[in-house]
Amino acid sequence: MASGPARDPEPLSRIKPPEGGRATTRMAELDRVLGGGIVRGSVVLVGGDPGIGKSTLLLQAAARLGGTTLYISAEESPEQIKVRAERLGILTDSILVLAEISLENILEDAARTGPDAIIVDSIQTIYTEEISSAPGSVGQVRDCAAKLMHFAKGTGIPVFIVGHVTKEGMIAGPRVLEHIVDTVLYFEGQRSHSFRILRTVKNRFGSTNEIGVFEMTDAGLSEVENPSELFLAERPLKVSGSVVAASMEGTRPVLVEMQALVTPSTFSVPRRSSLGIDFQRVNLILAVLEKVAGVHLAATDVFLNVVGGLKLEEPALDLAVAASVVSSLRERPLAPDMFVFGEIGLSGEIRAVNHAEARIKEAAKIGLRQAVIPGINLERLRGLKIPGLRITGVKNVHEALEALSI
Ligand code: TYD
Ligand code: MG
Repeated sequence: MASGPARDPEPLSRIKPPEGGRATTRMAELDRVLGGGIVRGSVVLVGGDPGIGKSTLLLQAAARLGGTTLYISAEESPEQIKVRAERLGILTDSILVLAEISLENILEDAARTGPDAIIVDSIQTIYTEEISSAPGSVGQVRDCAAKLMHFAKGTGIPVFIVGHVTKEGMIAGPRVLEHIVDTVLYFEGQRSHSFRILRTVKNRFGSTNEIGVFEMTDAGLSEVENPSELFLAERPLKVSGSVVAASMEGTRPVLVEMQALVTPSTFSVPRRSSLGIDFQRVNLILAVLEKVAGVHLAATDVFLNVVGGLKLEEPALDLAVAASVVSSLRERPLAPDMFVFGEIGLSGEIRAVNHAEARIKEAAKIGLRQAVIPGINLERLRGLKIPGLRITGVKNVHEALEALSI
């Protein structure tokens, strides 16, 4: 980045706050992951697998933003963008499409047209003339992003960069850009499911770990205001191995269905696998169940799945993992209106988790009526009264399995 003339340091109290506040994208789920809207001059990376819906998301956002958006299409022709826009029902002259792969030309055009926002789709297909390596190489990707950042800061125009996650799970790719840009959003989901999660993994202007939830439809992405309902929509009732877990994604409670399938193993080393939840964590919980709760799993295969393609990382899900495994093993279903949360310690104790109240309220909102939660959380919640909701506080795995009647 070019350096200007030397400047004097300023006292903190005299530095002016940033101008302009935040612009809304008029998509609440996108605003949320951005930390409350678009910050002037910010650079936002939207990463994700090819075909997950990044171009669709940004084209929809562009149509809703006030003012003009310059859409740099470096991998699709303007005609292809037009076809997508028609499918999305977008007919607006406020989106200017430029099919261009030279960064220098892009910046020149941006400076001339002075749009209110820029979308670069994608960072892997543009190149700067300053270095000789091919588009998509680490050097090009990094240099182009740094120059876009410089442009955004200099003009105040926010820039959205699309980055494909490459096969190896690295983005020469978004990963190499994470430290350069202000905000990093990852668009996740399984191709076979219509849910899409937009996750904040870095944000200089807001909290991380926020999620936005969308559903891919025939006419683009629609926002999902109540993800819990969506994730539990197809839940089978009174089936063993299925447990409702009250999880948190950032500041947002989300109820999910945890499923376990425990079957006698025909292998000398039983098979274990987990989808959507950390495998190491699952193994730890299985070991605790074996050791302190007398649940024998040494000769069984264990498969775990978080329904809907969500990826969850919270220890607060431990109790749901344990409950689903035991429920499947013993073929005892949980009550259909039951939900659980709680962290499991190595000696089988159930530890308190954060945001207990938010989890409980979310579950009550969608009609669940029974809960098994850490005893300490229950004590702290003495003041909380939700009519018709029966909460049992438990201290260890034994008590939890008993309270769940499994
Ligand atoms: P796209 O936004 O092109 O993905 P990316 O830019 O991340 O590569 O979306 C691609 C997929 O989304 C494609 O398989 C078709 C599907 N899709 C829909 O299901 N509905 C729609 O309205 C649109 C525009 C795309
Ligand atoms: Mg695309």
